[in-house]
Amino acid sequence: MTYENSEYETMPYAQAWQALQNSTIHYKGRPVGNLAACDPSVESLNYDQCFIRDFVSSALVFLIKGDAEIVRNFLVHTLELQIKQRQLDFLEPGRGLMPASFKVMHDGGEEYLKADFGERAIGRVTPVDSCLWWLFVLRAYIRATGDLSLAHSADFQKGIKLIMSLCLVARFDMYPTLLVPDAACMIDRRLDIDGRPLEIQALFYAALLTASELLLDSQENADIKQAIANRLHPLADHIRHHYWLDLKSLNAIYQYKGEEYGELATNEFNIYPDSIPYDELSRWLPEGGGYLAGNIGPSRLDCRFFSLGNLMAILSGLTTASQSQAIMHTIEQRWDDLIGKMPMKICFPALKDRDWKLLTGSDPKNRPWSYHNGGNWPVLIWLLAAAAIKTGKEEMAREALKLAASRLPNDDWPEYYDGKNGRLIGKEARKYQTWSIAGFLLAKELLSNPEHLNLVNFEEVPMYAIPLAS
Ligand code: GLC
Repeated sequence: MTYENSEYETMPYAQAWQALQNSTIHYKGRPVGNLAACDPSVESLNYDQCFIRDFVSSALVFLIKGDAEIVRNFLVHTLELQIKQRQLDFLEPGRGLMPASFKVMHDGGEEYLKADFGERAIGRVTPVDSCLWWLFVLRAYIRATGDLSLAHSADFQKGIKLIMSLCLVARFDMYPTLLVPDAACMIDRRLDIDGRPLEIQALFYAALLTASELLLDSQENADIKQAIANRLHPLADHIRHHYWLDLKSLNAIYQYKGEEYGELATNEFNIYPDSIPYDELSRWLPEGGGYLAGNIGPSRLDCRFFSLGNLMAILSGLTTASQSQAIMHTIEQRWDDLIGKMPMKICFPALKDRDWKLLTGSDPKNRPWSYHNGGNWPVLIWLLAAAAIKTGKEEMAREALKLAASRLPNDDWPEYYDGKNGRLIGKEARKYQTWSIAGFLLAKELLSNPEHLNLVNFEEVPMYAIPLAS
């Protein structure tokens, strides 16, 4: 496909667009997704598969460019891979789970899709985020094409319901957040994000909103719709209140006493001030800034800044308008730390020394300021651009895009960058990483026409509009 947009005739967009197309996978003669990377110089491992989370930025670029067919095919075929049957031996993944990735296989003349639910992945990690991203793509597809009939078809209604049932099933936890194992999202290696990581909560919130939008009003759906409505309010309230870090909340935490029992405890999670880096944080947090913490649990407040979670919280309306402004202000004021020489850092700061050893299992790929442990990931630029448009900070995103344009094509679109300021090409980064390419194109498209924000944006739901449990 060729586009009229003249910028596509110029470097680096023309090159990026070509590379994105080169990564397209076909299934039974039709486009169905993109390879994670097309780097002929290294062993492909599982980068020759289409990852659900990686396809999100490609899907959005294709939708913006009017090429909805690949997105539709992706939605239909990944839905077919979703676990649908109750397993009697209890060794299979739960119903509703979507795979991390899939691959087109050949058996004689027949083609079929082989899914990986994490059973072959490095570390055997569970892709909790896949089903949440799948809903995100479905909503964007409907917004772009108006094809509501796809979401209303029996198969899709069943798929959405299974995802919701899997997320909302009563388990051991008492919080409104989703309790997940470590490495259950983009950070798919051990990095001390087990429990209630922000990224999953922000995606979960967007998924709840999407499902309540797309599930038909029927007798059959009444219970699940009520369960969704009952969860939205406490989830938003919990995150806005307990995850929020600014100078005011830091001051409150600094004064915390431990060992409080009962309903009136102010330090509900028994956080000990000595467990958080309040000295560094009190210097790092800009005046008027703030952000959502990475995780909260008993005696645990992870103060690292996680970019995907914070930016998705802005897009999904999980943060209030003033919290969203404060997050963008923090990014702007701490540009060197969070953007550096390549937008943008996956998390800040990195785990070091003994923390790195104990909390990552001494994973050499995740050494301080590498890969998931404080590396810079170009794909995140589209989330930065979308959140910047939403909060009226386009200039920031333009600066970031300029930085990316000056390096990504020359460096052959690496998967990630290393170093405190993201100056080094990732030690083990793939080249021609598809979501680096698509994330870059998407940021450019969003900034060229901010109306495309509609595909990924959720208006903040006024709390009084969410029905409470009856
Ligand atoms: C790495 C990333 C993961 C991504 C995959 C394919 O494992 O951590 O988020 O989906 O590569 O690009």
